Amino acid sequence: LVPGTYNAADMGYADYGGGAAGGHEHHGMSIAELTGPKTGTPDVSVTLVARKEKKGLAGYTLNGTSPGPLIRAESGDLVEVTLVNESVRDGATLHWHGIDVPNAEDGVAGVTQDAVPVGGRHVYRFRADDVGTYWYHSHQVSSDEVKGGLFGPIVIAPKTPGEVLATIHTYDGKRTINGQTGSQRVDLPAGTTARVRVINADNAILRVGLTGAPYKVVAVDGREVNGPTPVSKAYALAAGGRVDLEAVVPSGGMRLVAGTAALSLGIGPVDPPSAELPGETVDLLSYGTAKGIGMDPAKADRRFEYRIGRRIGFLDGIPGLWWTINGHMFPDVPMYMVAEGDVVRMKITNTSGQAHPMHLHGHHAVVLSRNNVAATGSPWWTDTLEVGNNETYEIAFRADNPGVWMDHCHNLPHAAEGLMTHLMYT
Ligand code: C2O
Ligand code: CU
Repeated sequence: LVPGTYNAADMGYADYGGGAAGGHEHHGMSIAELTGPKTGTPDVSVTLVARKEKKGLAGYTLNGTSPGPLIRAESGDLVEVTLVNESVRDGATLHWHGIDVPNAEDGVAGVTQDAVPVGGRHVYRFRADDVGTYWYHSHQVSSDEVKGGLFGPIVIAPKTPGEVLATIHTYDGKRTINGQTGSQRVDLPAGTTARVRVINADNAILRVGLTGAPYKVVAVDGREVNGPTPVSKAYALAAGGRVDLEAVVPSGGMRLVAGTAALSLGIGPVDPPSAELPGETVDLLSYGTAKGIGMDPAKADRRFEYRIGRRIGFLDGIPGLWWTINGHMFPDVPMYMVAEGDVVRMKITNTSGQAHPMHLHGHHAVVLSRNNVAATGSPWWTDTLEVGNNETYEIAFRADNPGVWMDHCHNLPHAAEGLMTHLMYT
């Protein structure tokens, strides 16, 4: 099974029930609200050429590199990206991971568009409404194409003198920062306030952090943290997730460490000494200062359960131990049905024996609790939430972006093994 090659319309769907009638009218969707702006001169216009070619560790490139080029926009910009597929045999798309674009721009092959065949092109247009750190990647046979190199960073914010970008990815068993193994350095004067934008383009959670200076976790998955305080801990970055770390560059430099000190990025006027990350990890449940979330989850219009398990069965006729959602195996996984305007509350439990970084397209959810312990820190908005084995999370989001949206594990081989479903607007 390859993600994106099934027909979404063939999938059964069901309301999981439990939702109090929300009182929202069924008002359907208009085509205009599903697509990006059709007219208007783009503020940012980029063409990305996808190729199957061996370059360094990568097997696929965008404009001859992997990661692909940084796309930068500012808040409110109209962004236009043309994907040209020169030689990716299975076809390719571009998904704007974490950017809540209109549905038709979401780049999911088999759901919002057909994969762009060799010789074809596709134009994506969307308004860059939310400032933050994001990434883009192909969403066709994702587990192969992302691993091989069809991805890159996209930042919505003006460039600051202290900006450092670190896209972490493993190609063929070798982990890299911005495509390079080993130790690198970015030259920044002491005293600069550095904002280190870290993107985890891998399939597994990774401990990252700055050594040599205390730092603040200033944004998670593109959303600013309220009242961040300095920490000297590591940060557990979910696969697909992003984190922005902020610190004042000390005269001796500091270092972004990705997993172990063997893979790191020195930041400062001199190369800082190598050091491993502290053992302790920042807990976002209680980090930062509480603040309103703009909705009342106690009065949710829908309450869903998302129970991740595993059982023996057949997937595309192949026997195996496959992932299940509420006991069902893909493609017999019911969709989650919502109406525009709903406050949706979802309880995710995982007893599958492994951790899963769960990614909901088109929306940001706020974490309400973990293992029944309520969140007390800054509102923790996320689009990619690591749900460990035997963990339970309660999240809430507003259904404010009509369409059909994937909700899947971002350990991409797991998605290919059936750990995916959809959020569908009535
Ligand atoms: Cu970053 Cu559906 O993926
Ligand atoms: Cu998974």
